[in-house]
Amino acid sequence: MTARAGDLAARQRDFDRNAPVIVAEELTAGYEIYRDNLRLTALSDINLTIYGGEFVALVGPSGCGKTTFANVIAGLVSPWSGRVLVKGKPVTGPGADRAMVFQDYALFPWRTVDANIRLAFELQNSGLSKAEIGQRVAHYISLVGLDGFEKAYPYELSGGMKQRVGIARALVSEPDILLADEPFAAVDAMTREAMQSELEQVVSRTGQTVVFITHSIDEAIMLGDRVAVITHRPGTIKEVVVIDLPRPRFQHDVKALPEYSSLREHIWDLVKDEVLGAKAATGVTQ
Ligand SMILES: Nc1ncnc2c1ncn2[C@@H]1O[C@H](COP(=O)(O)OP(=O)(O)OP(=O)(O)O)[C@@H](O)[C@H]1O
Ligand SMILES: [Mg+2]
Repeated sequence: MTARAGDLAARQRDFDRNAPVIVAEELTAGYEIYRDNLRLTALSDINLTIYGGEFVALVGPSGCGKTTFANVIAGLVSPWSGRVLVKGKPVTGPGADRAMVFQDYALFPWRTVDANIRLAFELQNSGLSKAEIGQRVAHYISLVGLDGFEKAYPYELSGGMKQRVGIARALVSEPDILLADEPFAAVDAMTREAMQSELEQVVSRTGQTVVFITHSIDEAIMLGDRVAVITHRPGTIKEVVVIDLPRPRFQHDVKALPEYSSLREHIWDLVKDEVLGAKAATGVTQ
């Protein structure tokens, strides 16, 4: 995997860097469990503003509503109350300005690697020529280390390889907003670090706004401009920690800095209480 940052011209975004791009206002969302006649509150009263070109990592215990939050921003889940604005407009459904790397890959089994990634362009009018699309697809296949697997089907791939197809599919159209739900969870440790570094370079070149869900505090600190810690269910924002470490972080060896250790300790303290608290919580009403 070699970085070819700069090969592709950064697209002009239709928003300013540092202007609010995603705004969650008193967002509450959940699910009706008809089988048990229950209303399960996944997220409660989330207030968060994410600015253009910002990289925000979300951490919190399993089941606290991280995926639900990403799905609301993606327009796949509707809020019960409150709202999410994307570039000033309430989200009413999915759009070409947002792409998601799904926690469970969500690849089409009957499509090859190449065709799964190309799908990103079939769902929107990108304004790119066939040749440009081909060049982009090849670039991102190479970026995620899948050269030679273009014609393979998902069943022929390992879990980590499937996840890398999902990452390439979300990156290839260079959407304004990238929603990444534990994108590196199934990727082996060595590839993971290389891909984190690639992602940092890609988004700093493209100016994309990123919401990145992870269970790894190290990953959140290495990638995030800010880390939002979510409480146990019903999830709400416990604290938003600013990560003021130099970039590119993988070149700067920021893990060796004393600020890194104190940030890690602070976030771990916040998350630890929530993981322990999660066992007692239900968030279910009848
Ligand atoms: N489609 C659904 N129908 C019913 N309940 C759901 C659905 N999706 C999620 N939930 C419930 O909502 C809560 C939050 O789930 P969510 O997937 O958002 O958590 P998460 O923080 O992403 O967890 P993890 O870290 O394990 O991925 C959980 O209690 C889960 O059982
Ligand atoms: Mg999840």
